[in-house]
Amino acid sequence: MTTAARPKGGLEDTVATSSAICYLDGDRGVLAYCGYDIHDLARHATFEEVCYLLWHRRLPTRAELGDLQAQLVAARALPEPVLRLMRTLPRGNGMDMLRTLTSALGHYDPDAADHSPQANDRKAVRLTAQIGTVVATMGRVDAGGGPIQPDPVLGHAANFLYMLTGERPSGLATRAFDVALVLHADHELNASTFAARVAAATLTDIHSAIVGAIGALKGPLHGGANADVMRMLLEIGPDGSVAKAEEVVRAKLARKEKIPGFGHRVYHTEDPRATHLSQMSRDLGQRAGQPIWFEMSQRIEALVKSEKQLNANVDFYSATTYHALGIAIDLFTPIFAVSRISGWTAHVLEQYANNRLIRPRAEYIGPEYPQRYRSLEDR
Ligand SMILES: CC(C)(COP(=O)(O)OP(=O)(O)OC[C@H]1O[C@@H](n2cnc3c(N)ncnc32)[C@H](O)[C@@H]1OP(=O)(O)O)[C@@H](O)C(=O)NCCC(=O)NCCS
Repeated sequence: MTTAARPKGGLEDTVATSSAICYLDGDRGVLAYCGYDIHDLARHATFEEVCYLLWHRRLPTRAELGDLQAQLVAARALPEPVLRLMRTLPRGNGMDMLRTLTSALGHYDPDAADHSPQANDRKAVRLTAQIGTVVATMGRVDAGGGPIQPDPVLGHAANFLYMLTGERPSGLATRAFDVALVLHADHELNASTFAARVAAATLTDIHSAIVGAIGALKGPLHGGANADVMRMLLEIGPDGSVAKAEEVVRAKLARKEKIPGFGHRVYHTEDPRATHLSQMSRDLGQRAGQPIWFEMSQRIEALVKSEKQLNANVDFYSATTYHALGIAIDLFTPIFAVSRISGWTAHVLEQYANNRLIRPRAEYIGPEYPQRYRSLEDR
């Protein structure tokens, strides 16, 4: 590389593409999907409306929403070979299973060989419907139950909880989960979305791009953090006190460990998504008769803020929100994907629509050129 400018580590503040999907202002704590503020969407919109918004850049009419809901219903059931594969995969990490099963879905997609824009639109809807079913069924099977057929009258959030538990969720649980899906749907060029766009820019198929995104989301610096938050809280223990939570986190900070659920590359102020998740964590924890998780979280939040000037991010309170909904930790990061598939596919479609191969350069810092090749005997 001949330019004098040194690249910023982690591409910080680098504008890598143009996009009409997500607006982020990290200094003011603003997040908006296609111009709609996340607070308005969290208060009023359903996940299905947000999917439509991300894919079409405008909110749907009643008829358009009904049409999308019908398409999601039609696409929810999983192909039998994918269900069979799910039963044979080793249990363990939910993201590993989701990655493999999403890849398998590509084989059975009726539009597998069709890469036209119309087929890609259909695949975006299908993947969004199917990933919800995959994750709910993984949780159901892990808990020892048999797969539950999706219920065509339920919306995406309610259906997920129904397929996971076998019981019709309460209105409160449904709305809480729906809001969580709305909040996680898109976040500009986060690591997994960027991974999806880089893959899509080679004009590979949409399933391949999404499998790459799932792999990126798994990492503890990205989506994997929500599961780590709950593990940290459980380590402190349900019988643990707020004082113990403070002691554990202080010790981690003293050892220079990162506290999961804190810090963000873009936000230098409160993460607007955390505001809603914090309230849900409080309300659902109280209802579940387990206010301790929220109380510990609040103490940790205040401590990390005062010691490190770091704010809670989306993963911090989503952990206790999902826990209060009775969801197993291993599903936390896969649930992130249940929502983010909407944003990933929106970005992949946007990339396809105005594509150029993404191929940056690296600043070379290796051994001086030219090195003389020595035979094996001479080395
Ligand atoms: C999100 C994250 C990856 C952003 O990373 P980044 O912009 O590259 O920031 P850095 O990792 O360079 O951190 C900058 C400084 O803040 C500290 N820091 C960042 N996040 C921290 C955390 N969660 N706990 C403690 N310290 C943290 C770093 O140790 C570093 O301190 P130093 O300058 O004294 O070395 C980072 O904050 C993190 O690892 N958070 C925990 C994982 C997480 O919650 N991820 C989900 C993000 S939505």
